[in-house]
Amino acid sequence: MLPRMSAEAPKKRLRPGRRPPSGLAHLRLRPVTGSELGTLVGHRRAMFEAIGGFSAEDLDRADPRYRRWVRGRLANGRAEAVLAWLDGAAIGSAVIWYREDQPRPSSSALRVPYLMSVYVDPAYRGRGIATRLTEFLVARARTRGFPRVLLHASRFGRSVYARLGFERTWEMRWGGPYRSLPEGPERRRGRTFQGPGRRRSPRGRLR
Ligand SMILES: CC(C)(COP(=O)(O)OP(=O)(O)OC[C@H]1O[C@@H](n2cnc3c(N)ncnc32)[C@H](O)[C@@H]1OP(=O)(O)O)[C@@H](O)C(=O)NCCC(=O)NCCS
Repeated sequence: MLPRMSAEAPKKRLRPGRRPPSGLAHLRLRPVTGSELGTLVGHRRAMFEAIGGFSAEDLDRADPRYRRWVRGRLANGRAEAVLAWLDGAAIGSAVIWYREDQPRPSSSALRVPYLMSVYVDPAYRGRGIATRLTEFLVARARTRGFPRVLLHASRFGRSVYARLGFERTWEMRWGGPYRSLPEGPERRRGRTFQGPGRRRSPRGRLR
């Protein structure tokens, strides 16, 4: 099972006015407009292609469904999407979905922000762009009064989120059409990062 993660108001790297990392002085993060939906859907597809395990037919079917789904939520404020622009090109994006939640003793909020579809063009990775997208949307959620953010991390994203204060949680699942996505060691500055608490299933697959 891939780790689900949550963050209680990440404090690291969310300071306003921080200088952008070198080479990113011209990076701009802007909300997605209606005419940019195609770019957002394309990034989402590229994210699943990078993660692997889906056929072109799976992705072809998913694209228009996702487009309708995200368009509706962007229109009614249940989601926010941001594109990262550098030198006139949209090189990354991310979405935060304010999904329904249950009341708890610790909170009466009936929505919880869920960070998803974080993607950066391969040519621009390792420069802090996903970090900036994540910080931006977590800050948006905090501005809207939400103290925590959830997400489901791919093997590529774990180190980015962990560095920002996201922690692994104890979500579980049973049955359903979901399947374990292909796993593989993620790279962290020249060393192999196996991820927190990954275990082998009885059939020997990493989950
Ligand atoms: C996961 C993903 C979004 C990360 O994007 P990214 O822009 O490369 O992420 P960042 O640059 O913020 O962080 C990645 C690495 O760059 C390093 N980095 C951050 N700022 C940096 C900077 N200014 N200069 C150099 N390196 C930097 C980070 O320390 C991090 O290193 P680590 O992974 O070894 O810890 C990208 O790999 C991707 O799109 N993958 C495919 C889709 C996917 O899996 N999305 C996540 C879904 S949960």
